Order: sequence, then C-alpha cells, then structure tokens
Amino acid sequence: MTQRFSTDILIIGGGAAGLSAALHLAPKARVTVLCKGGIESGSSHWAQGGIAAVTDPDDSAESHIADTLEAGAGLCDENIVNFVVNEAPKSIDQLAEWGVDFDVEGNGYHLTREGGHSFRRVLHVADATGRAITETMTQQVLDHPNIELLNDRVAIDLINLSRLGRYPNRVAGAYVLNRTTEHVEVFQAKFVILATGGASKVYLYTSNPDSSTGDGIAMAWRAGCRVANLEFNQFHPTCLYHPHAKSFLISEAVRGEGGLLRLPDGERFMERFDSRGELAPRDIVARAIDHEMKRLGLDCVHLDITHKPEAFIETHFPTISSRCKEFGIDMAADPIPVVPAAHYTCGGVVVDNFGRTDIPGLFAIGEVTCSGLHGANRLASNSLLECLVFGRSAAAHIEQHLDREIPKVEAPHWDESRVTNSDEDVVIAHNWDELRRFMWDYVGIVRTNKRLERARRRIDVLKQEIHEYYSHYHVTNDLIELRNLIQVAELTVDSALSRTESRGLHYNLDYPDTHERAEDTILFPGGADRLSTLMPTS
Ligand code: FAD
Ligand code: SIN
Repeated sequence: MTQRFSTDILIIGGGAAGLSAALHLAPKARVTVLCKGGIESGSSHWAQGGIAAVTDPDDSAESHIADTLEAGAGLCDENIVNFVVNEAPKSIDQLAEWGVDFDVEGNGYHLTREGGHSFRRVLHVADATGRAITETMTQQVLDHPNIELLNDRVAIDLINLSRLGRYPNRVAGAYVLNRTTEHVEVFQAKFVILATGGASKVYLYTSNPDSSTGDGIAMAWRAGCRVANLEFNQFHPTCLYHPHAKSFLISEAVRGEGGLLRLPDGERFMERFDSRGELAPRDIVARAIDHEMKRLGLDCVHLDITHKPEAFIETHFPTISSRCKEFGIDMAADPIPVVPAAHYTCGGVVVDNFGRTDIPGLFAIGEVTCSGLHGANRLASNSLLECLVFGRSAAAHIEQHLDREIPKVEAPHWDESRVTNSDEDVVIAHNWDELRRFMWDYVGIVRTNKRLERARRRIDVLKQEIHEYYSHYHVTNDLIELRNLIQVAELTVDSALSRTESRGLHYNLDYPDTHERAEDTILFPGGADRLSTLMPTS
C-alpha cells in the first residue's frame, strides 16, 4: 500500500533556496521539505567564496548591477538583476538575524573579491560560507514546529490535477522514493516548490556534490514547463587536480586575494587573454586554462598564493589549506595544481520574480531555475544570493494565496504491478559513465557542431535504453537520477545546437562571433518555437 502524506507546501530540496522558502512560510503554513540526503547533499553546503551584496557605503547597487550584466553577456533580464541586487542587503540582514556570523573587519563586514566584481563586495565566513549558512538555517528549520524536514527522499515526478480527471492544470504534489524503505510515497500539497539545485553531474568532472543531477529541471520539463538557456554551463576555473581529490574546489577568493595562475614553468598567462588577468569573469579564465592545457599538452595549471604570509592563508582559507595538506600540498609553499570543472547550471526552469513556473501552484527557486539573473554567465557569488531572494519572494507570493480553494483529489497509487527487480544494475553504472564522459568530451568548454551532433546521437541511443529500463524495473535512486541526467543532457545539447553564435559560457568554434541581438534559448515541452520573452503565463 502506498504511504500518503499531505501538507500545505511541499518543498523539494533543502539547500539555501529550499530552506529559505521554508523559514519564510512556516509562520503561516505547514511545510514539508524533502532532501535526497542530509544537509551535505546540496551544493549550498559546499559554497566557499561567499555571497555578493552591497554593504560598503563606497560600493553601489549600480556597480553590482553593471558587473552582473557584463558577466551575463547581454542575456540577463535587467529587471530581475535590479530586483535581486536591491534585495541583497535585506537577505544579508535576514541571514545575520537567523544567526550567520559573517567575518567582520573594523565596523563592517570583511569583504572579499572575486572575478568580474569591480569592488570588494563578497561577504563570507572564512572559506566555508555555505556550511555556515546551511547549518544555521537547518537548525532554524529543525526548531520550527511547522516544518518537517525529511531526508533520504528522492522526488520522482510531479503530480498534476489535470491528469487525475476533469480538473484544472495545477500541481498537486509528487511521487517520492523513500531511500530507506525503498518504497514510493505520495506527497500531496497545495503548492510545490522545486529547489533541487543544478545539473553539473551531467559532466564527468564537477565541483558539485552527488545530488546535482538536474532532477527538478527534468521533472518540470516532463510536467509541461518551459526551460531556458541550458547551453550555458559554467566551468569553474580552479578545482584541485589530484587523483584522489574528488573535484575539490579552490575558491575564486584565492585569486581575489592575490592568487596567480601559472604554467608549470612559472610563467603567468592570464594577461595574454584579458587585461583583468586572474580576475576576469569565469568563462574567460576557464577557456584560457583550457586553451593553455591543450596547447602545451598539460594535465593542469597552477594557482600560486605562496607570496602571502602563512598566517593570512590560514585565516582566510583554513578549509582549503587543510584539504590541500591532506594531499601533501602546502598552500603557503607550493603552487596548487588546478583544472576547470563543471560548476553551475545557468539555465533551467523558466520563472518570474516570484519563482512562478508555467504550471499553476508550481514554483521553482535557486539553481534549478532560469530566472534571468545570470544570463549567459553567472557572476561569482550571485547564486546564494539568488536562492535567498527568491526563497523570500516565492514565499511572500504563496502566503497571499494560501486560502485558495483547491480540489481535494487523491492521487493514484504508484503502479508497480508491471515491473520487477533489475538483475542488471551494471547497465545503469555503464550508462552513467558513458553519458558523463561524452558530455565532458563533446559538450564542454569549447564546442563544435560536429561534437554536439555526436553527443546528440549518443543521447538518442541511451535515452531509449534508459526508458526501457525505467519501464520494466523498480525505480532506484540511480535509475531516477540517470533518467533525469539523460533528459537534461538532451535539453542542453538541443539548446547548444540551436545557438548559432558564441556568447558567455557557450563557445562554439563553428560560430565564433556574437550576434548583435541577444536571445534566450527557450525550449517548449510541446516542441513549439522559441519566444523572445521569459515571462511565465501563470
Ligand atoms: P542545492 O544547494 O544544490 O540543494 C539542492 C537540494 O535539493 C539538496 O537538498 C538535494 O538533496 C535536493 N534534491 C535534489 N534533487 C532532489 C530530488 N529529486 N528529490 C528530493 N530532493 C532533491 N555560489 C555562491 O553564490 N557563492 C559561493 O561561494 C559558491 N561556492 C560554491 C562552491 C561549490 C563547491 C559549489 C558546488 C557551488 C558553489 N556555489 C556558490 C554555487 C551555489 O552553492 C549553488 O548554486 C547554490 O547553493 C544552489 O542552491 P540550491 O538551494 O538551489 O540547491
Ligand atoms: C568560489 O568560491 O570560487 C565559488 C563562488 C561561486 O561559485 O559563486
């Protein structure tokens, strides 16, 4: 018998976005938050550099807006950028009120700098800002009687009222795998918020934790939402290069505090690519490293901060320093070997400034979305900010509609009558590996039409195989994720193939120029043509 749960608001994802929405909604409604794993399962927990906001009187919102627009290479939605930047100080005050102790200096916050920012404006808690934020917010959530936080739950698909009979198009909940009992449960709710993070696990090398498999993007797409700008995959320039360091990030703040990129012979190279050197926006730095590695046949380049005193390094980068030491690298004495890795999904589910999607009752916030903030390339440390600002705005909108009458319909049981246990789990592991490898090789930092088409053909074959597997066997965590990854891979490659220019993070050797007019790549679940607007219809 399927276990059933009912709540006012179902939030799928317990990173910065999901936790923020939960805390804002809890005073007014019953909230259930689902996470695949524990607090460490989302990227938020691993965020290092910090959160961008104008808090210094010498800085200005205009400057933060201009930097965001410039990094976004013409594709940001200016209204959204204005909205988020102007809400930023409020989000910082809120975090401080919840208990986050940002580093301070004199009478204000200590502000660090990252690529693309023309001013020091990144608040941080040493180099473990995400951990401080998620631990503080999770404690607030656990203390709140109106919030239930359930770990080891993997949402499989959304439930829509219109598929349950003669009801309107409206989300009604989700089918969810309980990883502990291995049974599928039904969660019904008046409102559902997708806060599932990004999809960087579609690449072989990534800075992201295991949960970034694009589940929310795939679920929303299958449910009938538009997705946009999925060709813009951000590769972080500096992940630790070591056979046993599972894609550990070396924060951009290391370059912000003076770290220099060098070739193995010690030569600096960034100034050959951009006058801003190591602090150029990420797309430029990652492409420059990729170029030098290919040109010279290198396995990695080096990030050198050895000219700073050891005490400075230990104060600002204790986590990074200690992780490097585990691999025999002393940041104060040795340049760190680094390579680029997939880091952030700029595209996603199309939303407006309240996080509304195309389906009434369904909201999406955080990295799962394409809100218009990041355009063709996200500015460093604008992501945690987006999570917090949209967590609040989605909550405020939902709060106003909480007393809305919604038909009470019971969703059908999860039908497992025609599936059996798989005796070939190795197929899933092989497909995972193949997918992530060809995405890395063919849909990486530098693309060509031929490589993209090659990836597209592989996706067709794998998709068919995964679909058959999904139809015949009991669902497992890995199968759910693989089904979502192949969906996101298809949407990514289709988006990349449809862009006949290079812009921001999307660089195609067959189209090296940038069109004068910037257009979003919007994909419609029904296969309709592109639109020039990102506003949802609901
Ligand atoms: P996440 O924090 O990724 O959370 C996703 C949640 O959804 C998790 O709880 C996960 O378990 C859950 N989930 C996913 N799928 C399902 C499913 N099917 N069912 C149930 N639950 C599900 N950004 C900055 O602004 N500043 C930084 O300094 C910074 N540093 C970074 C460092 C690293 C190493 C990484 C990986 C990213 C960094 N980023 C940074 C980016 C930023 O951390 C993320 O974009 C942001 O935290 C995303 O938050 P989120 O709440 O949208 O998703
Ligand atoms: C970093 O610390 O380099 C990550 C910052 C970000 O992704 O915004």
